[in-house]
Amino acid sequence: MKNVCITGAGRGIGRGLSLYFLQAGYAVAALDADQQALKELQELAGTAAELLIIPCDVSSQAEVKQAFKHISKSWDSLYGLINNAGISKFEPFETLTLDNWQQVLGINLTGPMLCSQAALPLLRKSRGAIVNIASTRAVMSEPDTEAYAASKGGLVALTHALAISLGPDVRVNCVSPGWIDVTGLQHSEQKGDKLTANDHSQHPVGRVGQAEDVARLAEFLIDPANDFITGQNYLLDGGMTRKMIYS
Ligand SMILES: NC(=O)c1ccc[n+]([C@@H]2O[C@H](COP(=O)([O-])OP(=O)(O)OC[C@H]3O[C@@H](n4cnc5c(N)ncnc54)[C@H](O)[C@@H]3O)[C@@H](O)[C@H]2O)c1
Repeated sequence: MKNVCITGAGRGIGRGLSLYFLQAGYAVAALDADQQALKELQELAGTAAELLIIPCDVSSQAEVKQAFKHISKSWDSLYGLINNAGISKFEPFETLTLDNWQQVLGINLTGPMLCSQAALPLLRKSRGAIVNIASTRAVMSEPDTEAYAASKGGLVALTHALAISLGPDVRVNCVSPGWIDVTGLQHSEQKGDKLTANDHSQHPVGRVGQAEDVARLAEFLIDPANDFITGQNYLLDGGMTRKMIYS
């Protein structure tokens, strides 16, 4: 059976990933800390979908263990794990609190470590693959983004460390998105700002990214046909990290 576990699956890119993988014929285990978002995902997917809905805070080792115990009751192996859950909190470094630093690191970096560890027995059985969702902010920055940038830089490093530790059984790669428009993938009552022509045209490819862009690359990296690829970080940003912006 082709199956994937997606964290942060209720909203945003994770919602887009979940709907994409269901459409592509995968069974999906959807983990999220937001129960309302999971309920909406279930409604969007329909009752016929092969979807396991599992409330879980990925920064809690107890909740992650419980979630994978739940998955193990339904599935005896796992094809792919997509560590997508993440938060961003941007604040001036001078006033950055230790609590906020630890919360961002806890969800964005410790979460993928805990989920990868808990998923490993299932992943090994199908020679599966892990895809970590980092960010172009792992390699470039705006001011006041220390916790987020450090968490994503850590995730890129965790990716290559795991690729070496877990090979050849399990491959581990990273996707670092740039600007991905998630306004249509939020809580049903939330309305996002419309993107402007400038938002799109500043990208070398002429548009802002979509969740499907992330989903197609994640599917490619999980596919065992591509099993010569491990330990890599793919910048998926419409060319923005290759663009010089001196004015
Ligand atoms: N949207 C972008 O432009 C962009 C760019 C680069 C990287 N990313 C990364 O992609 C991932 C998804 O981002 P998004 O824009 O869809 O964000 P989002 O806020 O729209 O969705 C994040 C999802 O993660 C869930 N989540 C948050 N904390 C959690 C926790 N502790 N445990 C389990 N689930 C939790 C949320 O409930 C939500 O469903 C993140 O890791 C983010 O850093 C996004």
